Amino acid sequence: MNNNDLMDKIVSLCKRRGFIFPGSEIYGGFANSWDYGPVGVELKNNIKQLWWKRFVQGRDDMVGIDAALIMKPAVWEASGHLKNFSDPLVECKNCHTRFRADQIDTTKPCASCDKSAGFTEAKMFNLMFKTFIGPAEEQANIAYFRPETAQAMFVDFKNVLDTSRKTVPFGIGQIGKAFRNEITPGNFIFRTREFEQMEIEYFIPVPKEDAEWNKYFEMWRENMLSWINKDLGIDLTHVHELEVPKDELAHYSKRTIDFEYHFPFGVSELYGLAYRTDFDLKNHQEKSGQDLRYTDPYTSEKYLPHVIEPTWGVDRTVLAVLCEHYREEEDRVYLALPPRLAPYKVAVFPLLKNKPELVAKAREIYDQLKEHFSTAWDDRGNVGKRYYSQDEIGTPFGITVDFQTLEDGSVTVRSRDTKEQPRVKIDDLQSYLQKNINSL
Ligand code: GAP
Repeated sequence: MNNNDLMDKIVSLCKRRGFIFPGSEIYGGFANSWDYGPVGVELKNNIKQLWWKRFVQGRDDMVGIDAALIMKPAVWEASGHLKNFSDPLVECKNCHTRFRADQIDTTKPCASCDKSAGFTEAKMFNLMFKTFIGPAEEQANIAYFRPETAQAMFVDFKNVLDTSRKTVPFGIGQIGKAFRNEITPGNFIFRTREFEQMEIEYFIPVPKEDAEWNKYFEMWRENMLSWINKDLGIDLTHVHELEVPKDELAHYSKRTIDFEYHFPFGVSELYGLAYRTDFDLKNHQEKSGQDLRYTDPYTSEKYLPHVIEPTWGVDRTVLAVLCEHYREEEDRVYLALPPRLAPYKVAVFPLLKNKPELVAKAREIYDQLKEHFSTAWDDRGNVGKRYYSQDEIGTPFGITVDFQTLEDGSVTVRSRDTKEQPRVKIDDLQSYLQKNINSL
């Protein structure tokens, strides 16, 4: 399949089945804004919950926070974002379309109008999203939506230390929205102006030599690869690690690795891992005048910890998961999602909608299963169509209640992946599903 076709097919499946819709669509859409629909929000929540469980609740050396989206502008002065968080912008002299200078070849014709009128000189464009606090739109009231969740973990560092009794090394994790006024958003949910991040700032002792921070960097590198492979079910041959060259490092980073995924539109950044040194804590300490140093409980030494930052984009995770698990067969399309990610683990169907005894039995089973699994109910159309639609949503199992159910208390359990339909006794359903879900 041609890669553009694959992207088109995924976008269309997302709309058709309720994963992701174009934002503000009844008003003609709003460029590059996307809304997660009923099954999309389940998939996204499953990803976030899995991440939280693994990296925050599952570790003794981690705690979480959930901070404000709009922070005091001084935060962004201290972090360097107001000064440095910019991309080079050029404009086509013919059609005035704007591009990121580092993403196009300015000696070639414009990708929008195909004319060779040339481009304006590159000027730096700050990506911070501005707003005003309160009714007066004046300079003194300017504030910014956060361009990364990270800064709250530095700004709240002292409060977390004082309340959580964690000792270095330890990390703070957060999931939340971030905003960037991107010059060229695109490729569906890959690059948008409003997106979600899952980030960790991991605080380590001041390293005396490179090996000391590298040890933690390597630990997070392995954790990130394991997440990609074990939790998301992504084949690691579809992932590429890019050592970001020194002259392209973000203003705060001493070393960064980008984890790139083989998206249909090209190999592009999925996640990042950076060594931020003590850049952020030092700047916030200076700017706020507060002592942000950590006191070692054993030696009483006071110091500003250094930081390793693994960062994950939620929306790019959703996109990579959809691309990775999209399958086409002659007679159907399906998402081979690992059950832990699937919006529904099981769907229940009465064979015929107009037979009250079948519907009542199916409802009974549905109500029972709902207590244990995220369960869908579907009584529209014929059973073939219901299988087809649950396949496209990625539901691993479909249960049909038929006339034999009323006689012997068994149902058919159809597997999304093999299409096999063994009969299972209602009493054994829960353990059958549990076992098979765990084995996928
Ligand atoms: N705190 C570090 C930081 O924000 P980043 O590489 O700029 O680093 C982290 O962003 C992750 O956020 C990226 O790896 C990507 O997954 C996601 N991301 C960044 N910009 C995005 C955008 N415009 N749309 C969707 N996801 C984005």
